[in-house]
Amino acid sequence: MCGIFAYLNYRVPRTRKEIFETLVKGLQRLEYRGYDSAGIAVDGPKEDVKDDNNNNIRLIKKRGKVKALNEELYKKDALDLDKTFDTHFGLAHTRWATHGEPSAVNSHPHRSDKSNEFVVIHNGIITNYKELKKYLTSKGYEFESETDTEVIPKLIKYVYDNREREDVSFSTLVERVIQQLEGAFALVFKSIHFPGEAVATRRGKHIPIQYNCGHFKEGVQEKNSRNRSDSNTALHSVGGGKAVEYYFASDASAIIEHTNKVIYLEDDDIAAVAEGKLSLHRISRLAGEDPVRAIQTLQMELQQIMKGNFKAFMQKEIFEQPESVFNTMRGRICFETNTVVLGGLKDHLKEIKRCRRLIMIGCGTSFHAAVATRQILEELTELPVMVELASDFLDRNTPVFRDDVCFFISQSGETADTLMALRYCKERGALTVGVTNTVGSSISRETDCGVHINAGPEIGVASTKAYTSQFVALIMFGLMMSEDRLSLQKRRMEIINGLRVLPELIKEVLALDEKIKSIADELYQQRSLLVMGRGFNYATCLEGALKIKEITYMHSEGILAGELKHGPLALIDKQMPVIMVIMRDACYTKCHNALQQVTARQGRPIILCCQNDPEIAKNAYKTIELPQTVDCLQGILSVIPLQLMSFHLAVLRGYDVDCPRNLAKSVTVE
Ligand code: F6R
Repeated sequence: MCGIFAYLNYRVPRTRKEIFETLVKGLQRLEYRGYDSAGIAVDGPKEDVKDDNNNNIRLIKKRGKVKALNEELYKKDALDLDKTFDTHFGLAHTRWATHGEPSAVNSHPHRSDKSNEFVVIHNGIITNYKELKKYLTSKGYEFESETDTEVIPKLIKYVYDNREREDVSFSTLVERVIQQLEGAFALVFKSIHFPGEAVATRRGKHIPIQYNCGHFKEGVQEKNSRNRSDSNTALHSVGGGKAVEYYFASDASAIIEHTNKVIYLEDDDIAAVAEGKLSLHRISRLAGEDPVRAIQTLQMELQQIMKGNFKAFMQKEIFEQPESVFNTMRGRICFETNTVVLGGLKDHLKEIKRCRRLIMIGCGTSFHAAVATRQILEELTELPVMVELASDFLDRNTPVFRDDVCFFISQSGETADTLMALRYCKERGALTVGVTNTVGSSISRETDCGVHINAGPEIGVASTKAYTSQFVALIMFGLMMSEDRLSLQKRRMEIINGLRVLPELIKEVLALDEKIKSIADELYQQRSLLVMGRGFNYATCLEGALKIKEITYMHSEGILAGELKHGPLALIDKQMPVIMVIMRDACYTKCHNALQQVTARQGRPIILCCQNDPEIAKNAYKTIELPQTVDCLQGILSVIPLQLMSFHLAVLRGYDVDCPRNLAKSVTVE
């Protein structure tokens, strides 16, 4: 939900063009978080100066993607691109619209007034904006946008204009402002009153801000800051007035090409850079020591967030699955001893084993990973397992007890519904377990313990490799729980052996890409596509249908084959495209019955089945034959053709696969 990026160069001369390039590149890396509109704030030319401050901020905003903004920056009447700034602070924002339609005026940065005295970029929601707007309007402020954000720059100007002392600092102003704000936010401020200074803050714990800690020698910029780290320990002040650069971003992917050292802000931390020196403090109602935040080293490489030879991030991420599932298992499964150790859970294992039930909570694809593994978790843990959509779980005020163990499954670790459900369960004393792909994310930090799925950065809005890695991580949890159950050893060995060869089997499935594309060629003009299956592959149908609808905009439904005769059968005729998932498992015969019901109504099913299944081939319009694996792992293989299918359908229909309309990765609003 919105990407924020800001770049400060202090005594590091940069041309305006270089600053534009840095800001735009940062936004491009964050575009998956929202792409309704984009904007930047940079120092403007002196001739724009409207007051005796001699400073000026220019806002450039554009509806549409970052590309449109970039074109705008270089238009004929563009600012002087060669102008060099010894010190400069620039803001950039890419928006996923919540309050107010996508338009230039609703785009960030938002401003205090026509002179752009204060400008701000915001990610999150201000829930008390109506009250603040009413108050500020009564004080004569005129609002130009429909956003909740606009109250923030207006409020800081109000606080600035009404300050008692002349020498109030920028960070003190911000501190006063955020004490009036309710909701969730990550904010970065720039002001003509504090040239070359930056202030950033956050609340709601679902919007990480990261920045380069400025590892530069005095006066000399080191080109590759990654090679030099003065300290990897906690600190609260760095830079010391030397030549430095700082980057503030919603996500590590935007800064990894500049530095791998970051600091994550906590709720109500205020980070300020003045005279090239970074300082952190807390708002005064949380009085006490200024915070000391550890500098963390990102384990991410630039190539991980580049598309390489692929047409889209989603395609790249689908093809990464042999490695990503391997990385989920790496160092955790010992194939010699058939043991599984998830380091983040081992100290809580006894407690988990004593629990009353497991509750798996997530949204979208992450929820489907819970559905996919529910049956095997019930079998391996011998505990009741509930699977819950986070929003519905909260809507129902679901009873949760101290002896429940609640899992929060989330690729981003920032999804608002899942995060709210986590807090709800914590308040009721349940043990909370995070299953996330993002180190340092809110969910990974707020849970009592957890598993990092290690799938690597997922940039495509449609989740693919995170699903298969969540799937594997949850199965590993089941294996860990069942290690001392004699009666389950045979089953455990079968699964562990299946996991050992899983990356190779995934490669075999990926080799079917051409065939899947040829089927997509036949289907892409259809309006609807049903996906049907049951048992271990029901989740495959839900997930496949979600992929199809979100990036191809075709209507698609994942149907439990057992429910076919209770309604969906009415949809079947020879025109309706149907994909059926029929694997050799305990549901095989029942799926076969569903197949008969479909073909009896002239349906022409495309069937995902195991290799060499003549019975199925006989009844299929087309088959996609997959290698067979253990029943509970089959869903990892059967979902991949549907990921590929949705990708090809979207390309054939002419859509931007990585930026489906109206969606964003990391949904940080409820
Ligand atoms: C679908 C998709 C979404 C997410 C959902 C939860 O492709 O990506 O359905 O799965 O928004 O996101 P996370 O896993 O980040 O909590």
